[in-house]
Amino acid sequence: MELKIISKQNPKYSIIDKDGWSSAGLIRGWFELTVKFESEKIEIDDIKINGESIRHCIYTGVFQTEKGERHFLPSLWEPGEWKIWLHPNIGHYFQNIFTQIDNGDYGKNLDELYLHTVDKPITINERYPQHIKSYFAKGYGPHWWNKKNIKDLPYKVLEGDFESLDKEKILQELKSLPHKIEYQPGWNTITLKPRGKIVLPAVEYSDLGLPETEKMLKMAGYKSVINVNWIGLDPYHSLQMHRDDIQNTQEMSESEAELFTGCVRFYWDIKNNPNFKFKMGEAGILPTNKPLLTNPTRYAHCVINDSDILRESIQAWGIL
Ligand SMILES: [Fe+2]
Repeated sequence: MELKIISKQNPKYSIIDKDGWSSAGLIRGWFELTVKFESEKIEIDDIKINGESIRHCIYTGVFQTEKGERHFLPSLWEPGEWKIWLHPNIGHYFQNIFTQIDNGDYGKNLDELYLHTVDKPITINERYPQHIKSYFAKGYGPHWWNKKNIKDLPYKVLEGDFESLDKEKILQELKSLPHKIEYQPGWNTITLKPRGKIVLPAVEYSDLGLPETEKMLKMAGYKSVINVNWIGLDPYHSLQMHRDDIQNTQEMSESEAELFTGCVRFYWDIKNNPNFKFKMGEAGILPTNKPLLTNPTRYAHCVINDSDILRESIQAWGIL
């Protein structure tokens, strides 16, 4: 691959590919190019891959200042780094970028309009089943998910002040729910609805009787609750890959199916266990330390608890 940065300042750059190694001459797949601010303003006019301009895709690059600001402009004017994901096959690159980013959005703040994920390969412990190890070992690279395409968005990070909630109280409330189920060895749930079923009708908060859980679910945006679970995954256990194909495995009307479509499932790894990993579709590892709305009916997913601590998380479905 021949890579050229067109800039009067002729800046130095570095490259790291999604597998974590850097070598400009040997890049085979997605890689991230970084230009570091030195002492003077740098303006990047273009990038050429094997002699061809990446055109307006230059606006997918972001200048991250040391102060923590992000500007989607191809220039650096203060200490910080400008970064852009590229691919040596420019046709493949354009196919991805043009499919994912709307024409009018180049030059805008892409953080507001898109969720940007980068799925990198991860080697996990030998003890896990082959299909989970190989799924984690496959890095799909970067992806811009349009926040408007709510059916396809893999997840949303929730904004509310969830840290103000009494987490122990929430766990205590959920553990008082009526139904205890072991789905698989080491994978347990305590749930509102019998057999852990994600079924209508929704339950009003006044009938739920779980005050701290109610605050959490209201913060997530639910008007009422379809189901809420405590989930425990034992140390060194995993949950095999699957998709929660709720709409097609139960009889429901089109308008009911809508309730289960898109980023609608609440998920929070409430104890923030760092060796717990939840991977979804091609979006990579989910930031489960923050409360999320996830899209498990659209994408295959699986989880591992690669630690000696019971991992406790909360899952809920409701009417948004
Ligand atoms: Fe699932």
